Amino acid sequence: MSEALTDVIEYHEATKHQFHAYARGPGQLDWATQPNPFRRYEGAPLIALDHVPPSLEPPYDAAFVEGQVLPQPFTHRHVSQLFCDSLALSALKQAGASSWALRINPSSGNLHPTEGYLVCGPIAGLCTIPMVCHYAPASHALEQRVEFPLEAWQALTKGLPEPVLLVGFTSVHWREAWKYGERAYRYCQHDAGHAMAAMSLAAAALGWQATLLDDLGTDALAALLGVCDPQGAEAEEPDCVLAVYPQGKSWRAHTLPRGVLETFGMLPWKGKPNVLSAGHVEWPIIERVTAATQKPPTDQVYGTSRSTGPPLAVGSAPQSLRKIIHQRRSAVALDGRTTITRNTLYHILAKTVAGPGQFPFNTLPWTPLIHLALFVHRVQDLDSGLYVLVRDPAQTLALRGEMKPEFDWEKPEGCPDGLELYGLQTGDARRLSEQVSCHQSIAADGCFSLGMIAGFERPLRQYGAWFYPRLFWESGVVGQVLYLEAEAIGIRGTGIGCFFDDPMHSVLGLKTLQYQSLYHFTMGGAIEDPRLRSMPPYSSALS
Ligand SMILES: Cc1cc2nc3c(=O)[nH]c(=O)nc-3n(C[C@H](O)[C@H](O)[C@H](O)COP(=O)(O)O)c2cc1C
Repeated sequence: MSEALTDVIEYHEATKHQFHAYARGPGQLDWATQPNPFRRYEGAPLIALDHVPPSLEPPYDAAFVEGQVLPQPFTHRHVSQLFCDSLALSALKQAGASSWALRINPSSGNLHPTEGYLVCGPIAGLCTIPMVCHYAPASHALEQRVEFPLEAWQALTKGLPEPVLLVGFTSVHWREAWKYGERAYRYCQHDAGHAMAAMSLAAAALGWQATLLDDLGTDALAALLGVCDPQGAEAEEPDCVLAVYPQGKSWRAHTLPRGVLETFGMLPWKGKPNVLSAGHVEWPIIERVTAATQKPPTDQVYGTSRSTGPPLAVGSAPQSLRKIIHQRRSAVALDGRTTITRNTLYHILAKTVAGPGQFPFNTLPWTPLIHLALFVHRVQDLDSGLYVLVRDPAQTLALRGEMKPEFDWEKPEGCPDGLELYGLQTGDARRLSEQVSCHQSIAADGCFSLGMIAGFERPLRQYGAWFYPRLFWESGVVGQVLYLEAEAIGIRGTGIGCFFDDPMHSVLGLKTLQYQSLYHFTMGGAIEDPRLRSMPPYSSALS
């Protein structure tokens, strides 16, 4: 095993929550050093974006299937909409004298480590010269960090469809570490996955497609996004870049030509990163796992990814995708009463499977690796108990071989063809699900909760240590779909990053590193949060 992979496994083991001990954290919150959730590049010119109110088009269900939405041209208005529907502020909560902003993309503890970037060529009404911009959600504006020559843009995007723009993501690990200590690196990766899915679906609403450009190595990403300079604890760690282009354009492969980004460091970058915290605590294990997961440049590393589900039926729901995106919220409490029907559950699960051309899974270039272990509590005509949805049928036997031999593995009644859902054990699973989700009652008080079980050791050995964050990205993408599905049927979801890892593995009988639970989720009838105050648009007073 490589040294980097050893570091990753050590990190993963060290940051498991156990019944007898939580992963190492700060103990109590130091409010004096609470990080500013808004990075600004002070002095960088601002390009205002439009607030584009949610429209009735496209319909919610149809937009999840490639080819159903007419591609819009690249303009200032449509780029505004892209950010409006993915990373913008979307509500405010207030308690007493303090208020805080919530966004389209969710974030563990609402700490928002993920920063978004636009890299683009000339776009009508936006710019005449290629540029790199940082997205500033509090102002819903782009901070222009640098302009660069057209030839460099053409070289950078060679092999990609036209027109194309790039969206980059970085993470400020300190924002999560301030509250969660060593487990924070995991949460940053979940959040990055949610942000990618949010961007993918915002693109879908415009008839565009977003694809992860995973040939780039971490150094190239840092050069491209202008985050090479050491900033100590407040550094932005480059995560990834997505290519965004009109749906229906086919392309083979992208390989970043050598030398294109070598000159980026010499460009006249504008703006100085603001200071986020008055002080920091160092978490060496996070620095170690960050170093271990640096990605080298790679060529065609995944081969062709397989779709792993049947084609998604294009529903006729009269709902609007953009409205659902904008109303998404995490439930802070569930009512312990609301039920859903069996068919609704099947429909939700079908949405989490990567059928051909299905958003947002078509953004990730690898064959799905996350499966769902469900605790079913309140689903009409379906026995309560433990179920598993195998998101890649090719993994069914392997997964079964790792789980408890006494499990039933029976398809529940009415389960549609192609949906690899199996009943494992019937019985009241409420207490168990609450227990493994760090005793959080939201896991028991919903219609169902679940753990996302990732194929773990095999892909890490196959691709390398740098694949570790990608497993969390996929879980975040699944989580984002679950959030929207909950809204679409009139209930509410919540991502659950706090769970007891090995106790969850014991529930399933998983004893090795072949499969690991990486993220939990719950869904049910929400008790409204009285602190929820407003809907957009927002004043820039929050900046
Ligand atoms: C990766 C992740 C982990 C989360 N873990 C928990 C959790 O363990 N318990 C909880 O109540 N909420 C959890 N949440 C919900 C966040 O607290 C919520 O997203 C945040 O407060 C912002 O609110 P919003 O989702 O309504 O925008 C999690 C969210 C994410 C994205």
